[in-house]
Amino acid sequence: MLVNKRFGKVLKLIFVFIAIGAVYFVVESVRSKNDYTSLSVSQYRDYLKSHIDTGNGDNTNLNKEDRVVDEKLQKFYSSVFQNIIDHSPSGKCRRVYKDACKLTQDVGNRPDDYENWFKLSYNELINCLELDLGEVQTLSSSHASFIDELNKLVLPRDSYKGDGIVMVGGGKFSLMAFLVIKTLRNLGTTLPVEVFIPPNDEGETEFCNKLLPKFNSKCVYISDILPQQMIEKFEFKGYQFKSIAIIASSFENLLLLDADNFPIKPLDNIFEAEPYKTTGLVMWPDFWRRTTQPLYYKIAGRTVDFKTRVRNSIDDLTPPHIYTKNLMNLKDVPFHDLLGTIPDVSTESGQLLINKSKHLGTVLLALYYNVNGPTWYYPIFSQKAAGEGDKETFIAAANFYDLPFYQVKTNVGVDGYHLANGKGYRGVAMLQHDFIQDYSKYMDASKRISQKYAKVGLNYDPKYTVENFYKEYFEDEEINKEVDIMFIHSNLPKFDPYTLWQDEDLIVDGKHIRSFTNLKRLKNYDIELENFKIFNDILCQDDKKPLFKYLEDKMNANDFRHMCQYIGNRLDFLNESHNEAIGNSK
Ligand SMILES: *[C@@H]1O[C@H](CO)[C@@H](O)[C@H](O)[C@H]1NC(C)=O
Ligand SMILES: *[C@@H]1O[C@H](CO)[C@@H](O)[C@H](O)[C@H]1NC(C)=O
Repeated sequence: MLVNKRFGKVLKLIFVFIAIGAVYFVVESVRSKNDYTSLSVSQYRDYLKSHIDTGNGDNTNLNKEDRVVDEKLQKFYSSVFQNIIDHSPSGKCRRVYKDACKLTQDVGNRPDDYENWFKLSYNELINCLELDLGEVQTLSSSHASFIDELNKLVLPRDSYKGDGIVMVGGGKFSLMAFLVIKTLRNLGTTLPVEVFIPPNDEGETEFCNKLLPKFNSKCVYISDILPQQMIEKFEFKGYQFKSIAIIASSFENLLLLDADNFPIKPLDNIFEAEPYKTTGLVMWPDFWRRTTQPLYYKIAGRTVDFKTRVRNSIDDLTPPHIYTKNLMNLKDVPFHDLLGTIPDVSTESGQLLINKSKHLGTVLLALYYNVNGPTWYYPIFSQKAAGEGDKETFIAAANFYDLPFYQVKTNVGVDGYHLANGKGYRGVAMLQHDFIQDYSKYMDASKRISQKYAKVGLNYDPKYTVENFYKEYFEDEEINKEVDIMFIHSNLPKFDPYTLWQDEDLIVDGKHIRSFTNLKRLKNYDIELENFKIFNDILCQDDKKPLFKYLEDKMNANDFRHMCQYIGNRLDFLNESHNEAIGNSK
């Protein structure tokens, strides 16, 4: 019953969201009928504004019908943001943790962390971030009233169109987004790309108007979408813009990609593949198990069934009888193994696939969590865990609405190198896997597991471990070949030529070194060499034009010459060591 009611709400929400998209689509269609490459940024924005603010600027290109839709959508659009402003909780989290809180370090998903899993029970997790009764009440009433208001909004359909890739640029991220776009094109992906430019990073004229259009890509200015009032009220940070970009993008189906995240497989088929087709939301795992404060469920009004265990960390296939001694006593079981909770492991949101028609509720509620993230929801979702940010907001929102999703099971990998003098290993990138191959292993596991327990029966098995489940169904290469890497999320150091040059990172005793050392795992895609080729091509040719604002802002001609010397040297090194790097990979 509850689900049906929720589903009804979701349907309403879907209309609401379609409308948001339609505003953008109308603007886009106006824009695409004009040669905006010759406009300056401010002209271009004023031009757009005349359509967004009044809906009756130079509308000669719009037919009557479009104009009606345009006005309705604008109205809807501003209601969404107004609702966020009206129903955001005031104040902010004190970020005080109780002395009894046992979350002193991140809790992983592998055997060396099994002894820490007791820290994930309801009784332990609730003993961490302090939220008093008044705070919980404020959060919960604003959450409820926001959801109610969303349900009242009604909008026209068919606004979001097509499939594409969405990134947030600005500053050094514009250059990094360009590297990603070049990588996509070099490896055969033709999907269009929208790069969102945050309000404080405007002025990317050459990049937006000249460079991107050559690669079936374009900029979208967030200040054209976000009301000024909202920009001033909330001091948005990079990852908060990601959830705005999802809503504002013209695409119905999109891959949201961090600007430092390189897809190394062709992606044109991803929206046609399972499990995307059925779920409309695919996410990727982080290293850590979930540590969300149980009070979140009280705040959101989301029921948790304390009597029903439905999984053991990532294993939601093996029947709970097999790994639970006493199903009547679940008080020491990790809280997020219980029915109704957000599943493990925690999410790494450097990449995410979403169908906005199916998941409009998710998109809008995630926006709410992100707008109120630094003040409240980020610490509530993560409770001290590494990388607090937008990462859990999408899965939490989908879970709230009982909407389907799939999170990749294959553990996140790493690439990196050994530091000189035995100072340890430095990870430079998270490697995320092909969700299509991963899902086919999952389906295969599902079949084999039901066959197995049909034979042996449902008795407690003391030998069961999550690791054995993982090894048997996801790592057994004899049965199923290793899942490909799909994304290289190159967290640190970033592919920013300015910082690399200034910091002399990746130079040891005057010599360049490679930071990616397992190219074979990356299907021999030499990411460092390819990116330095691009730096050399776009920044260091004689006919160089100012392309990236952040570089122009801080460098003179002499600086450029020095940086290009560095780029040339490193490119030579990477070129010369290419064959060896491939051959020596294990
Ligand atoms: C996205 O969701 C809509 C609504 O459920 C559905 O009609 C459409 O086929 C989906 N698109 C893809 C590519 O799965
Ligand atoms: C290395 O540089 C040479 C000369 O420019 C070029 O022909 C060769 O293709 C480069 N090697 C790689 C792996 O890019």
